[in-house]
Amino acid sequence: MSMNTAVVGLQWGDEGKGKIVDLLTSEHDFIVRYNGGANAGHTVVVDGNTYALHLIPSGILSSEKTCVIGNGVVVDPAKLIEEIESLRKRNVTVESNLKISSRAHVVMPYHKEHDAALERVLSSAAGKGDRNLSIGTTKRGIGPAYADKVHRSLSIRMGDLLDRDYLADRLEVICAIRSRELDALGVSTPPLDAAALTDSLAAMGRQLAPHITDTVYELHDALSQGQSLLFEGANACLLDIDHGTFPYVTSSNCSTLGIPSGTGVPGTNINQVIGIMKAYTTRVGEGPFPTEELGTTGEYIRERGHEYGTTTGRPRRCGWLDLVAVRYSTMICGVTSIACMLLDVLSGFDELKLCTGYELEDGSVTDRFIPDAHRLPMAKPVYETLPGWQEEIVDATDRDGLPAAAQAYLARIEEIIGLPIDIISVGPDRAQTVRSSRPTAALGS
Ligand code: IMP
Repeated sequence: MSMNTAVVGLQWGDEGKGKIVDLLTSEHDFIVRYNGGANAGHTVVVDGNTYALHLIPSGILSSEKTCVIGNGVVVDPAKLIEEIESLRKRNVTVESNLKISSRAHVVMPYHKEHDAALERVLSSAAGKGDRNLSIGTTKRGIGPAYADKVHRSLSIRMGDLLDRDYLADRLEVICAIRSRELDALGVSTPPLDAAALTDSLAAMGRQLAPHITDTVYELHDALSQGQSLLFEGANACLLDIDHGTFPYVTSSNCSTLGIPSGTGVPGTNINQVIGIMKAYTTRVGEGPFPTEELGTTGEYIRERGHEYGTTTGRPRRCGWLDLVAVRYSTMICGVTSIACMLLDVLSGFDELKLCTGYELEDGSVTDRFIPDAHRLPMAKPVYETLPGWQEEIVDATDRDGLPAAAQAYLARIEEIIGLPIDIISVGPDRAQTVRSSRPTAALGS
């Protein structure tokens, strides 16, 4: 039987999923994106070459694999074409090995304008207590595109780009409505030109036509032929629209719960779930972050970890590892084993802290996460302190070769979250990875 795997971020994103997906690609036939859009950024380093991908699964770097952009993704066709062309320029094959769901919804130029305008309006309209009401989005149009999907009447899907007449009809109505909405948000551009937009989208549709297909049948055909699937989650569990720190989340189900709806493949087909966790915590954009370190600790992690956004270049907020949050994510995502990323960044600390609980306003301590941005800021992290290590560990090849304090740090994390750490990353390159000698834990094993 084929082994189908999901890879998911357990924190607020940027855990290094791209590297692990790249590592596991050789063991699977199909690499499948199920959520998000160009808000995600996956960086993969192969033989010293860096590839930053936003929409296309990083499996594209292995030409014999099939990459799928599932129906749950929102696709900005202009960005997608840009990504395809830049890969081709670097001699990466992007032909029938890339399949895009005809049912994936399109991110339109007006979605991006709406996203940016709403953020602008919200950040200048502070709530009570001067609370900033903007989300700190990537301004890639993600929220407005998903909102249109749920609204139904005004959304365009990738398959629609192949039918010019249908597209023209819809866009005439949509552009009239959107122009009025953008105007109300203070965007002072001329009304949207439906004919010009139809032309440009139909042209992009022609370019992407060879890739646009019914990916649900493609995936089920693959399964029935015994081929294996690797699901690549974008964003991360704590940014999940239903289970993250709402409203400071993204607009899709980026936990593994999004896989069935975002691909048409039932969860019963997933055999193992690898949760990706940084050895510390980061967050980009607004929203509560109990273990955030605003002083020199945060700065040290940011500089050593190059913690600046792949998509927006924004400096990431940094802090200690929050195991209350990680354990919650492992529960939601059904994680079977952990990959601990960027452990090398922590070299040089005398002491390290692990957050094992939250102290609440009434003085009680809980080990339960609070997925609610209104209540989470009230939680004070309860820390356990462990010795740090000074040595650089970027050349480590096995777990026993790590400094004793690093081994103890990992062992304590495993104990608290109750799952094995099967992969340890000590640097950006594929080669800088320590894998457990035992097989990765599978569901039911
Ligand atoms: P949006 O997805 O652009 O709407 O942004 C919503 C929130 O999710 C913002 O705080 C973003 O910074 C955050 N976000 C979205 N995608 C990612 C990601 O891939 N990594 C980290 N943060 C992300």
